[in-house]
Formats: sequence, C-alpha cells, structure tokens
Amino acid sequence: MAKELNFKQELVGCFGFPVAENPTQAMIEPAFRAMGLDWRYLTLEVTPENLAAAVAGARAFGFKGFNCTIPHKVAVIEHLDGLGESAALMGAVNCVVNRDGKFIGENTDGKGFVSSFREIADPTGQSLLLLGAGGAARAIGVEMALAGVRKITVANRSEKRGRQLEALFRGPVSDAVGGTVEIEYLPLTGKFSVPEGTDIVVNATSIGLFPDVDAQVPIDVDSLTSEMVVADVIPNPPKTWLVREATARGCRVIDGLGMLVAQGVIGIEYWTGQTPDPAVMRTALEDIF
Ligand SMILES: NC(=O)c1ccc[n+]([C@@H]2O[C@H](COP(=O)([O-])OP(=O)(O)OC[C@H]3O[C@@H](n4cnc5c(N)ncnc54)[C@H](OP(=O)(O)O)[C@@H]3O)[C@@H](O)[C@H]2O)c1
Repeated sequence: MAKELNFKQELVGCFGFPVAENPTQAMIEPAFRAMGLDWRYLTLEVTPENLAAAVAGARAFGFKGFNCTIPHKVAVIEHLDGLGESAALMGAVNCVVNRDGKFIGENTDGKGFVSSFREIADPTGQSLLLLGAGGAARAIGVEMALAGVRKITVANRSEKRGRQLEALFRGPVSDAVGGTVEIEYLPLTGKFSVPEGTDIVVNATSIGLFPDVDAQVPIDVDSLTSEMVVADVIPNPPKTWLVREATARGCRVIDGLGMLVAQGVIGIEYWTGQTPDPAVMRTALEDIF
C-alpha cells in the first residue's frame, strides 16, 4: 500500500524592517523539530508600506500566525480581527495568532517576562521598579499589574515618555486590576538609587545591548540588596553589567534570554496548542550569542 505523503508545511514567521538580525527563527525552528512538527518560521522583511499586503498574504497562505517587530507592533493592529486583553491595554502587538481564520493580536513580551519571573518568585503584592518607559517597560508593567504587583515605579530618562507610561498605568491598567496598584514616576538621572522597599528591579532600557556591551544602567548598584529580584531585558549579551553586579550582590537574577525564550514558548503554544522544550530554545540562542 502506498504511504500517505504530505509536503505542505505549516507556516509562521516574523515581520520586521530591518529584520535580518532578529534571532527568533534560531530558537523557534529547533523547538519545532524537537516537537516533531514540520513547521517553518520565516524571517520576513516587510517595509511599512507593504504591511497591509503582507498581512493579506499571510491570510492567503494560511499562516498559523506571525510575530511583529519594529516598526510594525502598533501599525499591524488596524489589519487584525481582534486583540487579546493585554495587547489592547498596551496598544501593541508582537504576536498574531490565527484562531479559526481570524487574526488576533497578542503581546507575549510581558507574558514571557512574567513566566520567567514566576520560576523564581511570586509577583503578588511585590513592589516593582521599571527602568525605562519604552515598549518593553510597557509590556512588563501591564503584565506584572495583571499578575498582582502592589506598586510600580517608572524611572525614565525622558520625563515626557516616563509620564506617558505613568498615565497608562494610573488610568486603563489600574482600572483593569480594580485600582489595586500604586503608581509612581521618578526621573532616571545621575546615579539613581533604588528606593527602599523595592522588591523587583527591571532594566527595560536598551542599555547594554550589543555592540554597546560595556554600557552601564545609571543606578547605584550599592542600593541593590540580596532580597531583591533583578532582571535585565537585554538578550545579547545575556551577562550584562547589571546582571553581573546583581549576581555579585546575592540577588536572584533573570537575564534577557530567560524572557526571550519564555515569550517564544508562549508564541509556540498559541500557534500549535503544544508546549515546546524551553531548554532546546535556550541552548539554540546560547549557541549564537
Ligand atoms: N528579552 C526579550 O525578550 C526582549 C523583548 C523585548 C525587548 N527587549 C529589549 O528591550 C530593550 C528596550 O526595547 P524597547 O522596545 O522598550 O525600546 P524603546 O521603546 O526604544 O525604549 C528604550 C528605553 O530605553 C531608554 N534608554 C535608552 N538609552 C538610554 C540611556 N543611555 N540612558 C537612559 N535611558 C536610555 C529610553 O529612554 P528615553 O525614553 O529617555 O529615550 C527608553 O525608555 C531592547 O534592547 C530590546 O532588545 C528584550
């Protein structure tokens, strides 16, 4: 009897511009192979003027979903059929999921952070200091509020951007959690001292990202205490100056690879309905970084 043959792969991918340096494919495709799935994750260069056509193309090709990176995280929303709760609060999508033919926008950045955080501590009732007020800070703040933190302090270099994030957290995000979260803004200037009572410190700035690997987050590291959890979003290189200083002070530390892998795990779960092996994904990234 002839064997049934299937040469049609399921497709997912990443839309960005520029996109060639995005490493996501290097962790997602090994995860698919380890799961025994004949799926492809394509790294696709999509210019802003081609975004609508690219989304229409993904529908035509029956994509199971796709990631969005700079500059499409906000612009993609008008081409989608709906948004998940946290993506709606953030106004940004980094993961589109094909649910019964509808393209739904999710945001896995903050969910990935919370997932890697939960491996070492419970966020409920904790006081979070966010350094930075860009997309990563917003994603982490929204998900940590939904996960039950008691307080969020935003510290940012540009006051305008810091105040915008403070307003989002004080308004819609606070409303979404029943007004239970306290919000504060502080300027990130000089040698910033971590406020007493802080439980979690997150570098959500781009300081330390390759090639500026020696750049230092402008905080007084002597204000870190061993009771704190310190996280850095920078995936490349994972051992940033902050990660090294916090480790030396006995803090529990989460590096940027932890968050990157965890958000990739959530994306694969959304697309395939199955959980990949995070160790396979982390090893694949460690090999390239
Ligand atoms: N590990 C992961 O899974 C993951 C996921 C998402 C993002 N990331 C990383 O997160 C980082 C931030 O991404 P983003 O999308 O949030 O970028 P973004 O929107 O451009 O925001 C960058 C933030 O960094 C601050 N900043 C940059 N240089 C600074 C400096 N020299 N001194 C003080 N503040 C500085 C900016 O402050 P101003 O407002 O004052 O300019 C802003 O708050 C990127 O490096 C990215 O690789 C990692």
